[in-house]
Amino acid sequence: MGFNRRGFLKAALGSGVVLAGVGAWLRPQDQGEPYSEYFSQLNRELKANGPMRPVMLVDLDRVDHNIDVVKASVRRSGKQLRLVEKSLPSPGLLDYIGQRAETGRLMSFHQPFLNHDAVQFPKADILLGKPLPVRSAELFYQLHKGPFDPSRQLQWLLDTPERLEQYRALAQGLGTRLRVNIELDVGLHRGGVADEAALEAMLKVIRAHPAQLEFAGFMGYDPFVGMGVPELLATPHTLLARVMAIYNARVDFLRVRYPDLWHPNLTLNTAGSPSYRLHEQENLSTEVSVGTAMLKPSHYDLPSLSEHVPAAFIATPVLKRTGAVNIPALDDKSRIFSWWDVNQRATFFIYGGNWMADFESPPGLKSNNLYGRSSNQEMVNGSEAVGLGLEDQVFLRPTQTESVLLQFGDLLAVRAGRIVEHWPVYN
Ligand SMILES: Cc1ncc(COP(=O)(O)O)c(C=O)c1O
Repeated sequence: MGFNRRGFLKAALGSGVVLAGVGAWLRPQDQGEPYSEYFSQLNRELKANGPMRPVMLVDLDRVDHNIDVVKASVRRSGKQLRLVEKSLPSPGLLDYIGQRAETGRLMSFHQPFLNHDAVQFPKADILLGKPLPVRSAELFYQLHKGPFDPSRQLQWLLDTPERLEQYRALAQGLGTRLRVNIELDVGLHRGGVADEAALEAMLKVIRAHPAQLEFAGFMGYDPFVGMGVPELLATPHTLLARVMAIYNARVDFLRVRYPDLWHPNLTLNTAGSPSYRLHEQENLSTEVSVGTAMLKPSHYDLPSLSEHVPAAFIATPVLKRTGAVNIPALDDKSRIFSWWDVNQRATFFIYGGNWMADFESPPGLKSNNLYGRSSNQEMVNGSEAVGLGLEDQVFLRPTQTESVLLQFGDLLAVRAGRIVEHWPVYN
């Protein structure tokens, strides 16, 4: 059989067309767009009145909306609301939310913040959100000043009979009485009381030492109920039913076996941002804890929080524009990237970077892992369509609030696109 030149040429041409077709199909589309009107206004405001360094913005119009969603939920369920201080780590922000939400209840997780809260919010009712080493509790009492009365207004969260005994000894040494809230494992498996024997051991100690210990309630935290576990495993409804079966059993045990420690004013705390809406369906717990949902960072884009809106953004200025992406050592060969990908035809170096955050506006920006991340001046790429000039702001959405909010100095609170407050964060 002779070589079929025409056939070969046809086949080669055909596969070339197919390859080009597949290539065009694989080639990244232009994802760049200019700012929306919302971010365009924030950009103008920051250029006129901002510090031109990375800042954390909190949009009070959006926070108001989120507060009102939470308020309506707790009103429907007849529960109280407790604000999670570590997730909103600025006294000014906490005060603002507490006033609009009409709650003086806080959940604290850190002794230095707790001492601060006791001074800043002398009327607050504070529940610890994790069991602290007894030395931390001792330090709290050593440093505590002012009218906040821990023997009435503070509940220590405790998880084991051993730690309870350490706190009892602390109370004895201080000549005071400590209010004790018991951490329940309602399915999170992050410690806490997991069975009746452990609960009994703790209740026994409390009953035996009324001069030093007062039983104040239970805390059962269940974020997994709203975190979007694959529905094949369990629906949120089923998960909530399991959580509440455990919670109910612990409360029943108390009522039947320790009726002297039971009273209707006990704090039966539950939930967190991912699960608080689901607790509208039960009436055992007396209160829900909510923090992060007030600001809705990106990891909280959950079905249970669909009524909430993002309310915190990082803003940082563009310091340099350097054109098409250009990687050290590759130099001119870097052109292949911008030739292939229209979203690498513009390069911006921003002030700071490498935060736990996603690019928000203008749309279509990406960090460059090949070039490397930087906390000082991070490379950001996009297409020319993003329309960013020097000293325009890049906006990012934090993935979580608690540690990210502490990284920028004062929070800048904005309303209707204008800076209206500077709120210091905890330190
Ligand atoms: C005990 C406890 N309750 C509630 C929360 C919920 O906090 P957030 O509403 O900020 O998710 C947390 C968060 O870690 C927690 O540890």
